[in-house]
Amino acid sequence: MPTNILGVSAYYHDSAASLVRDGQIIAAAQEERFTRKKFDASFPKHAISYCLQEGGISLADLKYFVFYDKPLIKFERLLETYVAFSPKGVKSFLAAMPVWLKEKLLLKSVLQNELVSLDGIKKPNLPAVLFGEHHESHAASAFYPSPFKSAVVLCMDGVGEWATTSAWLGDGNTLTPLWEIHFPHSLGLLYSAFTYYTGFKVNSGEYKVMGLAPYGKPKYVQSIYDNLIDLKEDGTFRLKIDYFNYCTGLTMTNGKFDDLFGGPPRKPETLLTQRDMDLARSIQEVTEEVMLRLARSLHRETGAENLCLAGGVALNCVGNGRILREGPFKGLWIQPSAGDAGGAAGAALTAWHKLEAKERKADGVKDAMRGSLLGPSYRNEEIEEFLTKKAAPYVRLNDEILLVRIAEELASGKIVGWFQGRMEFGPRALGARSILGDARNPKMQSVMNLKIKYRESFRPFAPSVLRERVSDYFEMDTDSPYMLLVAPVVKSRRTQLTKEEESLWGIDLLNVPKSDIPAATHVDYSARVQTVHEETNPRYYRLIKAFEAQTGCPLLVNTSFNVRNEPIVCSPEDAYRCFMRSAIDILVLENCLLYKTEQKPLEGDTNWQQEFELD
Ligand SMILES: [Fe+2]
Repeated sequence: MPTNILGVSAYYHDSAASLVRDGQIIAAAQEERFTRKKFDASFPKHAISYCLQEGGISLADLKYFVFYDKPLIKFERLLETYVAFSPKGVKSFLAAMPVWLKEKLLLKSVLQNELVSLDGIKKPNLPAVLFGEHHESHAASAFYPSPFKSAVVLCMDGVGEWATTSAWLGDGNTLTPLWEIHFPHSLGLLYSAFTYYTGFKVNSGEYKVMGLAPYGKPKYVQSIYDNLIDLKEDGTFRLKIDYFNYCTGLTMTNGKFDDLFGGPPRKPETLLTQRDMDLARSIQEVTEEVMLRLARSLHRETGAENLCLAGGVALNCVGNGRILREGPFKGLWIQPSAGDAGGAAGAALTAWHKLEAKERKADGVKDAMRGSLLGPSYRNEEIEEFLTKKAAPYVRLNDEILLVRIAEELASGKIVGWFQGRMEFGPRALGARSILGDARNPKMQSVMNLKIKYRESFRPFAPSVLRERVSDYFEMDTDSPYMLLVAPVVKSRRTQLTKEEESLWGIDLLNVPKSDIPAATHVDYSARVQTVHEETNPRYYRLIKAFEAQTGCPLLVNTSFNVRNEPIVCSPEDAYRCFMRSAIDILVLENCLLYKTEQKPLEGDTNWQQEFELD
């Protein structure tokens, strides 16, 4: 009888569940994909049901149900923070308290009751409910599925219990803590403070700040070092917290912060100014410096050859790219679901390797995340049943014909919604639920941003490139299957700018093509690269191969299959709806092919843009 362990993260941000069987991650998914509520933090009952179904088991077959952190320690941290900052902290204390009392302190019985109502299991038959530790769950998610036998592990996030940054030594099946930095000193919260201040949503807009950074100048770097962060040579740091409001209030920054940067925060959705871009560039540079210093001192202190990363800050792929190129490590592996959702998998793996003391296999080459394709898939028959019920015109084609046809359409400038196989676990679409386009097309970036995603046009798209050809286009020659590394486009592909173009700055640079793959090249000639591998993503690989055969170009633009503020699509129904609501020309649902021109408009779907909260 195999040992089944379910890991869950919930009640903070981006709830998720993951099923681990005999040490292998069988399934993992975020709740938002099922409920269609972005970063849904509620008890992940849909994700749990999916994981159990994928594993062909019920709750009674689980040995352990592991929650990813310890609510009591988190509570202690909140309480101590409020006491330390009282009476100023009373406002946020009152705002957070009832939720904590009701849901988090009594978590064990809350969880048990949720499970009982999920499949009618009787309480005595429930699996043992365990609680992991927040940063240990992150560290486990980064090390156990990595290809390395041993590695040093660095976790950086906003905050969980007390730790905001932690270092671990992974060896075989053991993870030994080295040191940690405690709240309120947090690199994640520092970055989030600038996310808030530049008018984006905390916990999701950090990506936009990173995307905005290359448009700005590092004007405020010195001011950040002088006033906000005391950064030591070894990368450890302390924040000067009288500039921040997250200990005492409900916002991230305060009047002192405003004074330092010359005014109040940008109002969301208002015009971006050069100041916002300069702020983005400055905080990005500081963050990269902290990441690089931490990486170097961990290497110096431990002599480890490999580094694993997790925690929300590990989604900063520009910083990751610099660690790869400039850092001293031979190997770098980043958990694709680096945020708290990934903690679900980490918690389950901790129970297997630590509590059960089971061995861990690592061959030094292959990771155990299965391309992060760990979510639900749908058979052609189910898709056809759905399309027939919808009376949506489609044709079903075999792969040989379909892939060539789609490659032709892409080469002629069409935008394709591509839905196949198991859904991705983590924030990035990796060719299972993706919108694809031709990166060579100079109009692709603005069309995709404005007519497909309905989002700000400054954000570039990521290229999915055949692994064996990555170095023909980018200054890197490593695997990057999870789109978590940024690398420069090779010099020979860059466009020679005219004198006039060279003098442009800020957002005016946007419409100047930077290379022969302009839709995937940022203003600073960088690209967020996904390498596509035949073994882990065979059908996506073959599509790009067909595109290469026709055009010579071994890459496509790949963006997540969703409109702005919407979670990535999960089911054929979600995909069809998103296809009909946006300017996607063609939809591929496994082997079924649909053209927009042949579809009837969706009935009564005029106000859908109000459906999703702004991100
Ligand atoms: Fe976290």
